[in-house]
Amino acid sequence: MHVPVYDLQLEYKSLKNSIDRAVQDVLESGVYVLGTQLKEFEKEFAEFCGSRYVVGVNSGTAAIQLALRAAGIGTGDEVITAPNTDISTASAVSHCGARVVFADIDECTLTISPMEIEHRITSCTKAILPVHLFGQVADMSAIRAIADKHDLIVVEDAALAVGAEYNGDIAGTLGDVGCVSFAPGKILGGIGQGGAVICDSVDIAHAVLSLRNYGKEYRSDEVQQNFARAKLTKFVYEGYNQRLDEIQAAFLRVKLSVLDDAIERRLKIARDYFQSLEGLDITLPCAITDRRHVFRAYTILVEDRDGLARYLESNDIGAVIYYAPPLHLQGAFAYLGYKKGDFPVAEYASANMLSIPIYPTMTDAQVEYVIEKIRHYID
Ligand SMILES: Cc1ncc(COP(=O)(O)O)c(C=O)c1O
Repeated sequence: MHVPVYDLQLEYKSLKNSIDRAVQDVLESGVYVLGTQLKEFEKEFAEFCGSRYVVGVNSGTAAIQLALRAAGIGTGDEVITAPNTDISTASAVSHCGARVVFADIDECTLTISPMEIEHRITSCTKAILPVHLFGQVADMSAIRAIADKHDLIVVEDAALAVGAEYNGDIAGTLGDVGCVSFAPGKILGGIGQGGAVICDSVDIAHAVLSLRNYGKEYRSDEVQQNFARAKLTKFVYEGYNQRLDEIQAAFLRVKLSVLDDAIERRLKIARDYFQSLEGLDITLPCAITDRRHVFRAYTILVEDRDGLARYLESNDIGAVIYYAPPLHLQGAFAYLGYKKGDFPVAEYASANMLSIPIYPTMTDAQVEYVIEKIRHYID
């Protein structure tokens, strides 16, 4: 039996009529950027998150970069984040001119450890950038308390955690500003690249609206029309071309309409894994009860990780090793001067983590097949 890492063809087929109609409508409208699809998607996604503003951008990386810039992070500042994340979390910090500072992670959730954050704070620290790893929110109460104590901004990397919750609040709304990714295969995956910034602050929202659109001054429609009439364009930032396309927004609106069901299916698969893999000599994900883990990945820790990965692959099961080696040991960040042993928990996780398939269109038979093969290898 073939079990891929995720099955985007099947997801498309299950929504084919609505997606085809939505894409066709955009094609026929002749408006391909900054049109009504984006506005509607931003409104609907803000409602889903329970936030005041959502600004669509063209990747999760762009979301982090623009959120940091909009929050005033720049040259000379330090931003504390986890070393076991996608490279874009950290490179977005450097691209703003700030310095990345890593802090080790919690052994249970594998998200950034609040205690380790405190140890890394200096007079240059301006922000904390927790990563809601694999779909579970980091320890946001403790992080918020540290941020308040030291007057820091909290920017959430919720790229993997759309719809995850912490004490009932949705990921991306727990800090000062949240960032999500709509890359294919994410919890809310698009047909290409996409992302969004989530916030309650009108100032941050306006800054991101401007930054994503070359740095054009964001003003009310009336003022914009006056500028258009006078053929003047006012730039208030050196910005970017990082807008979310209309086709992407139209596609995401369809996916958003079925997102709750898609998450429920992930949770059901996760429950099956928990029940059937318990008691084996592997560490299962540590899902904390006051947090709703949405399982973008179901990640286990196994001593013989590479052996199990090879065995699953030979049985046509797509298992993935994410975030290895950790970022502090990557050549791209050699200039930061970290060395092996600096973040032992992240290094241990990185050497032992294996993510097994979990996606909304996965069948019960596929889930059972994965369980059977893991049990067979580990027992
Ligand atoms: C934790 C994390 N942050 C940020 C990103 C960047 O998102 P994107 O690929 O949409 O730029 C990713 C991408 O996988 C990610 O896993």
